[in-house]
Amino acid sequence: MKTTGRVNGIISNIVIVKADGAVGQNEICYVYCGDTKMMAEVIKVIGDDAYVQVYDSTRGLKIGDKVEFAGHMLEATLAPGLLSRNYDGLQNDLEKMESLFIERGSITDPVDFERKWAFKPLAKVGDKVSAAAWLGEVQEQWVAHKIMVPFIMTGNYTVKSIVAEGEYKVTDTIATVTDSDGNEYPITMVQRWPVKQAVRCYDEKPRPSKVMETGVRAIDTFNPLAEGGTGFIPGPFGAGKTVLQHAISKQADADIIIMIACGERANEVVEIFKEFPELIDPHTGHKLMERTIIICNTSNMPVAAREASVYTGMTIGEYYRSMGLKVLVMADSTSRWAQALREMSNRLEELPGQDAFPMDLSAIISNFYSRAGLVKLYNGATGSVTFLGTVSPAGGNLKEPVTESTKKAARCFYALSQGRADSKRYPAIDPLESYSKYLEYPEVEEYLGEKIEKDWVKLVYRGKTIVQRGKEANDQINILGDDGVPVEYHERFWKSELIDFVILQQDAFDDIDANCPLERQQMMYKMVLDICDRNFDFADFEACSKFFKGLINLFRQMNYSEWKSDKFHDYQKQIEQYVSQAE
Ligand SMILES: Nc1ncnc2c1ncn2[C@@H]1O[C@H](COP(=O)(O)OP(=O)(O)OP(=O)(O)O)[C@@H](O)[C@H]1O
Ligand SMILES: [Mg+2]
Repeated sequence: MKTTGRVNGIISNIVIVKADGAVGQNEICYVYCGDTKMMAEVIKVIGDDAYVQVYDSTRGLKIGDKVEFAGHMLEATLAPGLLSRNYDGLQNDLEKMESLFIERGSITDPVDFERKWAFKPLAKVGDKVSAAAWLGEVQEQWVAHKIMVPFIMTGNYTVKSIVAEGEYKVTDTIATVTDSDGNEYPITMVQRWPVKQAVRCYDEKPRPSKVMETGVRAIDTFNPLAEGGTGFIPGPFGAGKTVLQHAISKQADADIIIMIACGERANEVVEIFKEFPELIDPHTGHKLMERTIIICNTSNMPVAAREASVYTGMTIGEYYRSMGLKVLVMADSTSRWAQALREMSNRLEELPGQDAFPMDLSAIISNFYSRAGLVKLYNGATGSVTFLGTVSPAGGNLKEPVTESTKKAARCFYALSQGRADSKRYPAIDPLESYSKYLEYPEVEEYLGEKIEKDWVKLVYRGKTIVQRGKEANDQINILGDDGVPVEYHERFWKSELIDFVILQQDAFDDIDANCPLERQQMMYKMVLDICDRNFDFADFEACSKFFKGLINLFRQMNYSEWKSDKFHDYQKQIEQYVSQAE
């Protein structure tokens, strides 16, 4: 029999419930306010008092109102038909709700339970299987969606029966498996997984070794993101976090994209819904939305549901990863998630940590980031979840707790600087503050050496040094004046400007410049480095700046020209002539 209870106290979204039986931490329950059934989660239990967080407004709730406990944690429903959908943090289908302004108590099906899918068996009777083993597949958009032994089934099983190729509903039994004691378990195409618990259905989790191409030069060339890696983008308001994430989602070399718009303003989320369905996927020529899932919470939605959304997104990512796919999960912004954690913790009157965030904020963030990764599945295939989150530190202060904690958890750091954004140097990724720890991995170095060219990582560090020395020279020029330093200082400064303007800056709104393939990045970068290696012997600083301004102008025109077009080669020739004349 299920546990029930009565409302015994109300503090905003936190409701204290007197329960008549056992209640588990993080268990889901339903609070009845008149005829409205509202979903809630247990966040603390003391004796027979359960503190539950209601994912809705508790307006009008009264002492004595009825509560029913579900007996399980907050779960994601995993089945064919997730792609192209827009969900809220609790996996309610927003399309079915017709608007972002969800009515209180509405709960919708996350997938279509009536639709039939063409199922093709992959396993046969007698096969030994365990959690996440592929029993069959259905074609979902262009993805071969694997039907797996549910993640929740620990232990080893034998396939007793499996249906023939044909059309089935997701709730139909497609196979039966038995355990060593002969107990039978029917398996359908639907499985449910508690979102706050990492899915561990893989053989091993090796360190990432491949780079995920994003088409953004400041990332790919200077601070590459690994496939199965983690990164984060802290930046003050309006510095370009969302534009950068959207560019990456369009261009990244991933099979599935999961966008979590977490606690953003409603009009921004509407923008995602308007923009995304129109986008064409450069990899397939189809609509990008076909391989995208959007999860959003806006500030007009129940505050508490924000906390759940990042977990729901990650769980769906892990599900597709188990099919051997490359998944890119992005959250914008994780600061809103941290704020939700703070609100919850404050309402529970927990002892606060720095800036009133929960004491274990760092551990919560690290645990979440560690769910990303490259995995080797039991059948030998590999899959990956790459995670990229944004952080909006109040006042651009990178020392605040969310940024600091995330810095410990993520391997790539793409710091957007206010100064760069103000001077329209987009993307505003600060070349000196930002880093990718993957550049230090020998396996990544080897991969880049084979994929791009030998000693590529050395070339990357050389470029970074040029930028660093350019900044130092510029500091000297600012103190001593243009004439107060040798011309070489100006030359050093302008060489770093050349790298900045040609490689680091990129126009996200230009069809050609927005997406720069790795091969093109390599060529451009080598051209620029080659020029930086030369000594020009300028007569004075004016001649130096005139030369570099002209050069940057030619390079920029080249960046806006179609890769390998006649125009492109024309600029390449012009640049070569321009440089040889100056020597
Ligand atoms: N790569 C880019 N190329 C050209 N313009 C850009 C680029 N990145 C950002 N911008 C400009 O900066 C503006 C603000 O960017 P964006 O909305 O991404 O900032 P944000 O950091 O997400 O802001 P918020 O903190 O408000 O969410 C954009 O509307 C655009 O005009
Ligand atoms: Mg934004």
